[in-house]
Amino acid sequence: MSGLFITLEGPEGAGKSTNRDYLAERLREQGIDVLLTREPGGTPLAERVRELLLAPSEEPMAADTELLLVFAARAQHLAQVIRPALARGCVVLCDRFTDATYAYQGGGRGLSETRIALLEEFVQGSLRPDLTLIFDLPIEVGLARAAARGRLDRFEQEGRQFFDAVRHTYLRRAAEQPQRYRILDAAQSLGDVQLALDKLLPQLLELQRG
Ligand code: TMP
Repeated sequence: MSGLFITLEGPEGAGKSTNRDYLAERLREQGIDVLLTREPGGTPLAERVRELLLAPSEEPMAADTELLLVFAARAQHLAQVIRPALARGCVVLCDRFTDATYAYQGGGRGLSETRIALLEEFVQGSLRPDLTLIFDLPIEVGLARAAARGRLDRFEQEGRQFFDAVRHTYLRRAAEQPQRYRILDAAQSLGDVQLALDKLLPQLLELQRG
């Protein structure tokens, strides 16, 4: 038995976790075993790495250090949580995954995609999400929502150019592989985003049945 691996991506303030929880409810209503998780994080050790990544610090973090920490957390998360859940036949709904590395470390920090792809292969082997939902929204809207939540983390403190590159990378990847991605307009009201998710549900159930 093998489950289904769905990732949710998008900039800060796109409502990914609220929508992830909503989607989980809809799937559970169908009797499906759902596992909710997130990156960076998802295990106690990987959550400690998340703290290192998000905490503003006086010592600037080198871009390569950031990249390696993201993949170190991912290796732990895959071993402890994601692979076992998929092997049990769960639908895994993960708030961010390697598309975020391409968007933030690749687009945002300007690291080479070839290097990211090497680490992706090293850490994941052939495992890729079956489906990736991108919650897209204009940068100003996302940053205003993030600012309203309180103190900004190390990524949220980045400027407009960084987030332009993040958004552009997500949209480019989605355009390159349209079969794996679905783009949702996250600037709509929450109710409208959830209606869009309801419309996606039959496709997800179809994928889950294989
Ligand atoms: P969030 O999950 O609360 O949105 O915050 C996680 C932050 O970590 C977000 O700013 C994006 C960033 N991130 C990366 O830079 N690379 C990655 O591979 C992942 C998973 C997240």
